[in-house]
Amino acid sequence: MRIFARFFLSLIVFTSFVICIVFTISSLFFPTIIQYDEINDENCFNMPPRHYIHPVYLGSGPPIQSTPRPLYNPRRVKTSARLDCHLQNKTLIIVNSHANHTKYREMQRENFGPAWLNENNAVMYFIVGTDIDVDIDDEIKTYEDIIQVDINENYHNITYKAIFWINEINKCRHGPKLLLKIDDDVHIDMIGLQFLIKRYSVMDDFMACRVISNGQVVRNNTSKWYLSKKDYKFPNLGTYCQGMVYFISGNLLPILHGNIEKSQFLWMDDWYVTRSLVGDYKISYYSLEQHSISPNTVREVYSSLMAIKTRKWRTIFAHFRPPQKFPMYRRRKIWANITEINNSCNILRKARINFVSAY
Ligand SMILES: *[C@@H]1O[C@H](CO)[C@@H](O)[C@H](O)[C@H]1NC(C)=O
Ligand SMILES: *[C@@H]1O[C@H](CO)[C@@H](O)[C@H](O)[C@H]1NC(C)=O
Ligand SMILES: *[C@@H]1O[C@H](CO)[C@@H](O)[C@H](O)[C@H]1NC(C)=O
Ligand SMILES: *[C@@H]1O[C@H](CO)[C@@H](O)[C@H](O)[C@H]1NC(C)=O
Ligand SMILES: *[C@@H]1O[C@H](CO)[C@@H](O)[C@H](O)[C@H]1NC(C)=O
Ligand SMILES: *[C@@H]1O[C@H](CO)[C@@H](O)[C@H](O)[C@H]1NC(C)=O
Ligand SMILES: *[C@@H]1O[C@H](CO)[C@@H](O)[C@H](O)[C@H]1NC(C)=O
Repeated sequence: MRIFARFFLSLIVFTSFVICIVFTISSLFFPTIIQYDEINDENCFNMPPRHYIHPVYLGSGPPIQSTPRPLYNPRRVKTSARLDCHLQNKTLIIVNSHANHTKYREMQRENFGPAWLNENNAVMYFIVGTDIDVDIDDEIKTYEDIIQVDINENYHNITYKAIFWINEINKCRHGPKLLLKIDDDVHIDMIGLQFLIKRYSVMDDFMACRVISNGQVVRNNTSKWYLSKKDYKFPNLGTYCQGMVYFISGNLLPILHGNIEKSQFLWMDDWYVTRSLVGDYKISYYSLEQHSISPNTVREVYSSLMAIKTRKWRTIFAHFRPPQKFPMYRRRKIWANITEINNSCNILRKARINFVSAY
């Protein structure tokens, strides 16, 4: 007996030793792989109860101006997809994408596969601009899910994509019951999204998103978010939706369309759609803050993962900033990749976030 006990003891010691060595070495060579398996399963299923109401904000802010006006009239590139007007009672998913983001579109096509779309009575389109250096003609032909507009890709031009899809929907006899606008680089928990669609496809007069309730204007001209007084004259932006994910009830789409002629243009497309075009119409903004994370730095990735443990509801949308936002890893083009994580649970369940190069 004693010999067995001794044998097992040495086996345990040996195994721990090996594990220890492996972990040390791997953490030396792969310092970017976050091991975070302690999130328990009960954190995965923390979907809000059926009748849970997300926190509500009412629209407020400075009066909407009528200038500046848009400079271009966006048109569809003829070879690209046309919006199919069979939208009645459906959820229309608009994925804002950059012409060059073929990899991200692959990721979203996996999310929004035919079976999922069918089950959820949804349709999905990418909306992209043009870039003379990027040829996506083959992709456009193959998938028939890309609407391309003749506007140069530039983050100051994204609002024109929004103007385009709002115009296109308005040409249809029946618009969708619910609209979801999402950026191509957002990771989505599809079960959670299904829950939100069920919840929100029976309601009117609302937007649901991460609500910015008193958005401050950045007047520092070195900032990416700088707005000149000409762009926007007031010091605050009022209530609007952050652009990474927002739902709009279908009944608002004609109202937004009607306001294109009356409301000021701003290159910040999220503010433009969810504040400027809303105008005086009374809507509720439901907060999806509890379902979203968008860390800017590696440190924030860690703290987001910690926060998931204590937050109340399931994380459904995760947005990882592109490499330039991770200065310490810039040269290696580190990209957060959570595609390995099983979508049927919390997207961050195992939170085994791999920073691997995507581009
Ligand atoms: C949409 O829903 C309405 C009311 O529920 C129903 O009358 C109509 O037939 C539906 N239309 C389609 C195309 O599903
Ligand atoms: C598009 O992406 C490719 C790599 O995926 C890169 O080499 C190229 O420079 C990008 N082009 C533009 C115009 O951003
Ligand atoms: C926006 O798109 C228009 C039309 O394609 C183009 O002329 C303009 O240069 C673009 N703006 C920026 C800032 O790239
Ligand atoms: C503007 O931002 C830069 C860095 O982005 C900062 O160094 C500078 O102090 C800021 N200027 C003002 C007036 O806040
Ligand atoms: C930014 O603002 C500073 C101070 O207001 C000004 O001196 C500078 O010319 C501006 N730079 C640009 C690029 O507009
Ligand atoms: C994801 O998890 C579900 C159960 O939670 C399981 O049925 C499914 O096979 C898993 N999928 C993958 C790709 O691991
Ligand atoms: C993410 O990781 C998985 C598995 O490691 C890999 O198959 C996939 O290509 C990666 N995705 C991207 C966008 O790099």
